[in-house]
Amino acid sequence: MRVLRAIPEVRAAVREARLENRTVGLVPTMGAFHDGHLSLMRAARAASDLVVVSLFVNPTQFGANEDLSSYPRDEARDAALAEAEGVDILFAPAASEIYPDGFATNIHVAGLTDVLDGASRGAHHFDGVATVVTKLFGIVRPDAAYFGQKDAQQVLVVRRVVRDLDLDVRIVACPIVREADGLAMSSRNVYLDDAARLQATALNRALDAAAAAFAAGEREGSSLVAAAHHVLDAAGISPEYLELRDAETLQPVVRVERDALLAVAAHVGAARLIDNHVLSAP
Ligand code: PAJ
Repeated sequence: MRVLRAIPEVRAAVREARLENRTVGLVPTMGAFHDGHLSLMRAARAASDLVVVSLFVNPTQFGANEDLSSYPRDEARDAALAEAEGVDILFAPAASEIYPDGFATNIHVAGLTDVLDGASRGAHHFDGVATVVTKLFGIVRPDAAYFGQKDAQQVLVVRRVVRDLDLDVRIVACPIVREADGLAMSSRNVYLDDAARLQATALNRALDAAAAAFAAGEREGSSLVAAAHHVLDAAGISPEYLELRDAETLQPVVRVERDALLAVAAHVGAARLIDNHVLSAP
């Protein structure tokens, strides 16, 4: 595996692969790898000839009061894990490589970013994501790029950018990878002490409770949300949001008639955690 820092080096490596008609898969990440990240690398490895993983803690998607400075960073560990997954190139640029002096462009996806994490964290968050992901697509020009369903709204935002800007890349969404007790894996789980780690299991249990009600035939949005709320209340968690929305448009859902996304965000101990389930209308 090669660790590259400069955009021209990445372009040269990809150009070489393309001359040999090799396909290119990209996995954008901010590092602190866990099995969720590794599952994306495996999916990319299985479907592409050249696998590029980007490791960049993107400052523009963090708010002023968020965890940019404390975000877990361990490039040597990440490089070893990526290499073990058969990754060909780890692109780990400095911030000045991605945002040189004079950088002035911002990609804003209207509508989809007004709700859920966009409402909670502010518009800057998904602007930062959309802009850096578009840059990564421009640098690597992958055939396919792999994202986790853990960040369901991020997948929708990226798909919309690709569609609206006619980017020639296939977006692959991969399932949420969870700990044995159901907690969705996240780089931010390291912020949890023992008590908060236990409390955090309520997020997935809450979503499961709604999914169980859905499986038993409940279709009313308010009842499904109430089933989840009940579990969070019992665990002493008051969510930043807990909402049922259309899984494609993110419009509010009153009654489930198409796939619906039940999404939650909550502060648990020192971490802000998100999770979601898709309720699939039969
Ligand atoms: P990061 O949080 O490092 O996540 C990188 C990718 O891993 C994302 O697509 C995310 O959805 C996926 N992922 C995280 N936890 C997962 C889990 N438990 N199961 C499955 N996939 C999981 O998301 C970002 O970085 C950034 O916003 C980025 C897209 C790199 C842009 O800066």
